[in-house]
Amino acid sequence: MADQKDKVYAAPMSTIEAFRFDAAVADVFQDMIERSVPGYGLILQLIGSLAERYGRSQTNVYDLGCSLGASTLQLRKHVPPNCQVIGVDSSEAMVERCRATLSRDHSAAPFDIRLEDLRNTVIENASIVVLNFTLQFVPDQERLAILKRIAEGIVPGGILLLAEKVRFDGESEQSLMADLHHDFKKYQGYSDLEVAQKRTALENVLVPNSEQQHISRLAEAGFSTQVQCVRCLNFETFLAIR
Ligand SMILES: C[S@@+](CC[C@H](N)C(=O)[O-])C[C@H]1O[C@@H](n2cnc3c(N)ncnc32)[C@H](O)[C@@H]1O
Repeated sequence: MADQKDKVYAAPMSTIEAFRFDAAVADVFQDMIERSVPGYGLILQLIGSLAERYGRSQTNVYDLGCSLGASTLQLRKHVPPNCQVIGVDSSEAMVERCRATLSRDHSAAPFDIRLEDLRNTVIENASIVVLNFTLQFVPDQERLAILKRIAEGIVPGGILLLAEKVRFDGESEQSLMADLHHDFKKYQGYSDLEVAQKRTALENVLVPNSEQQHISRLAEAGFSTQVQCVRCLNFETFLAIR
């Protein structure tokens, strides 16, 4: 059942397995991401307003790593009705729930939710591509090639919205931001144990880059403009224009 409170890491675990987007996570994912990512709601609103500004008639808009479809819905509600909305996720549990959510929405734009590895997704005739906290889960050495393919598939003037957890090169800034993020999660009701167990589960699964790495990689991938447009603690959102 969806919309449950996240208690995935609440009980002590003798072994902590690598984090996966399985059914147990999908059931609580909305609560998990809202209480774990500072500024998540703001980014969803931004995706809506960007969809209004950049969504172009008779193009495709892609949501890569669409999970339950929160960002996909924002796209669908705000693009012109003759845009094709394509959501992609490699987790079957997420895709099932996303399809159900999108079916309950009656916006006009047609949609296609695909169970697919985004590394195999052909991007073509795109006015908008969204990577909302997804690229961080793809092997680091493959990220540039993915961004290049995305840039090649975006029409001139089209955009990529890239949101990621970031790391800082300075030790003191890195440790301050990690502490403030920990405090944020405690304030959201997570215990120290939950925070610690999830951190272990995410090690080597979520691999963050620095702001500078993102900006230079977006330029190298072929975007003409790349700016940081939102930052909340160690979570940053970049807007790249083709
Ligand atoms: C943090 S969630 C994304 C949240 C979502 N974009 C939102 O705005 O609510 C990351 C998602 O990316 C998916 N994912 C990770 N690696 C993927 C890949 N290689 N191909 C497709 N989906 C992937 C996961 O299954 C998960 O649902």
